[in-house]
Amino acid sequence: MNNKNSDYIPAFHFHWLTPWYDRFMDGCYPETRFKRSLIEQARLQPGQRVLDLGCGSATLTLMLKQAQPAAEVHGLDVDAKMLDLARRKARQAGADIILDLGTATRLPYGDNRFDRVFASLMLHHLKREDKRLALSEAWRVLKPGGELHVVDFGAPEGRGAYLVSLLIRWFEEIDDAIAGLLPRFTAEAGFEAVQETARYRTMSGTLRSYRARKPETRAEFSGLILNVRRWD
Ligand SMILES: C[S@@+](CC[C@H](N)C(=O)[O-])C[C@H]1O[C@@H](n2cnc3c(N)ncnc32)[C@H](O)[C@@H]1O
Repeated sequence: MNNKNSDYIPAFHFHWLTPWYDRFMDGCYPETRFKRSLIEQARLQPGQRVLDLGCGSATLTLMLKQAQPAAEVHGLDVDAKMLDLARRKARQAGADIILDLGTATRLPYGDNRFDRVFASLMLHHLKREDKRLALSEAWRVLKPGGELHVVDFGAPEGRGAYLVSLLIRWFEEIDDAIAGLLPRFTAEAGFEAVQETARYRTMSGTLRSYRARKPETRAEFSGLILNVRRWD
């Protein structure tokens, strides 16, 4: 089955490439580096509840559990085949993580449940409207003061990355990410203190990570929502 037959875009665009996902990520991307620094910026604490959106084969999910064994770590993905891979890896690692089948645009969790939500290379799989929906869902399931940590394609840095971006924008739903719109959509979903934290050059362009926070209280003045608080 290829992506034309599904209502989502699989990890490497075609289902038949899924078994090679980990090997390719490991060999061709600075995967450990950008996932580790995403975890570091989240400062996980014991007892926190953490969600990895579009967890794929659960590489980040497992790293989250390893970084903070006393956290309750969930991974969610829409692709049952990917989740099979993830479950196998979790079993082999003897890791106590919870893997859920579902879509980021309609999360199967109640309001204000999570302290941290992560999205690694997931948002560029969603159409613009679904990106906005997924960010609103992340906002809904986060507790007030909870944090969102994202790494995804961003505005290309340098001529090489720009040229690659002209090619890859034909694939998946990557246009908004390359145009640098993900932080803006995040703020528009109600998050405050949206801040870029790192950039990575890869063979398929520039990855950018950022963080954002759900306000402790939603400050509304005459219909305007303020998103101006900064990180301490
Ligand atoms: C490029 S992979 C990234 C996987 C993992 N987060 C990582 O960093 O290696 C994108 C993942 O998003 C998942 N995905 C696509 N659409 C989704 C949706 N609507 N809800 C949840 N997951 C989705 C795909 O199944 C795939 O596993």
